[in-house]
Amino acid sequence: MPLRVIVGVSGGIAAYKAVSVVREFVRRGHNVTVIPTGSALRFVGLPTWEAISRNSVPTDLFEGVAEVRHVALGQQADLVVVAPTTANMLASLASGFAADLLGTTVLASTAPLVLAPAMHTEMWENAAVQANVESLRRRGTFFIGPESGALTGDDSGVGRMSEPETIVDFALSCLTPQSLEGKRVLISAGGTREPLDPVRYLGNRSTGAMGVALAGEARLRGAQVTLVHAHLEVSPPSGVELVSVSTAEEMHAAMVALQPAHDLVIMAAAVADWRAKNPSTQKLRKADQPEHWSPELERTPDIVADLGQRKPTGQVLIGFAAETEDIASEREAAARMKLDTKKTDAVVLNLVGERVGFGEVETAVTLITASPQSLTFEGTKSSVAGRLLDALPEL
Ligand code: CTP
Repeated sequence: MPLRVIVGVSGGIAAYKAVSVVREFVRRGHNVTVIPTGSALRFVGLPTWEAISRNSVPTDLFEGVAEVRHVALGQQADLVVVAPTTANMLASLASGFAADLLGTTVLASTAPLVLAPAMHTEMWENAAVQANVESLRRRGTFFIGPESGALTGDDSGVGRMSEPETIVDFALSCLTPQSLEGKRVLISAGGTREPLDPVRYLGNRSTGAMGVALAGEARLRGAQVTLVHAHLEVSPPSGVELVSVSTAEEMHAAMVALQPAHDLVIMAAAVADWRAKNPSTQKLRKADQPEHWSPELERTPDIVADLGQRKPTGQVLIGFAAETEDIASEREAAARMKLDTKKTDAVVLNLVGERVGFGEVETAVTLITASPQSLTFEGTKSSVAGRLLDALPEL
């Protein structure tokens, strides 16, 4: 579900990194209202916040008085993040000041409050600042960072704001039930590439976005995640163990080796079904091939079917089914067959085609289990991935 997120920005140089915090929340399908302080606007201007958040940006306590905006924004929020949180902002929040729109919004909100401090090491270590942190912590405020690293000047040390993706992951985890805490989850993602020669391969249009979204959402729910990935066109999430492979054969070996140590295995990769029987070790030259050339292809191992055969008791195995039939019932029948042939506990059906199903776009998937009822989820890949994982206890 899209969340209503307030991103408060206070006046520190790390405000420029807060632009990426906002962008990441929006990318994951959430509705963000940015509330910059006056000093934050001296670092990053209003048009930037409006363009990145795709929402108007309120700055003045005396705007929107008729809608009682000074409290409405806070009352409606699901999550409030202040990034960066300067030493001055910490003092203001610890004392409950309501001198500006961000102050009134924070006080009017009962949503989780996540602070991402950023300041020089001496300031962070100052007793007054630490007392404010302690006081806020005692009242249930969440802190992410600061981390150690290069600061604004030539100095380095503790005080650097956490990376935007880390802040977003952490903030969302404060709202997410830790339903996979203590579970080990193995996910495959991306499209395999089967070489024809050292420069050419047989591949597919998978971007890996669905598997990557599943890995991120599983981690958000407290799981320890291993992501075995072939070619990806999206960045893998932070905080998961990555195993990089290229061909179906390599993915097969990695998945089989890792399977026994995992509680949940999700095969979201787009694995090539055929590979060249004899890939050339030298580049194939046009002149050496006939006008109509048919390389001899052979089948690759069906990885998920093999995992189905080897499945230890208690492990949950989920496959995907990429189907292209126009009629929903035909797609579902084709996917339901894979439940039996591949011995999986569930199959996630998605419709694919030249313009649908690939990339971080709106998607629709259907979760098919032994039960005759199936569940359909629609939304961004992150939200769909989260809802798939939340539906697992029903398996
Ligand atoms: N899969 C696999 N190994 C392969 C091919 C596919 O593990 N060599 C997995 C995919 O990761 C997915 C599931 O099998 O979880 C279904 O993939 P899909 O391409 O829909 O089906 P195929 O097995 O290729 O069958 P078909 O060609 O009949 O659709």
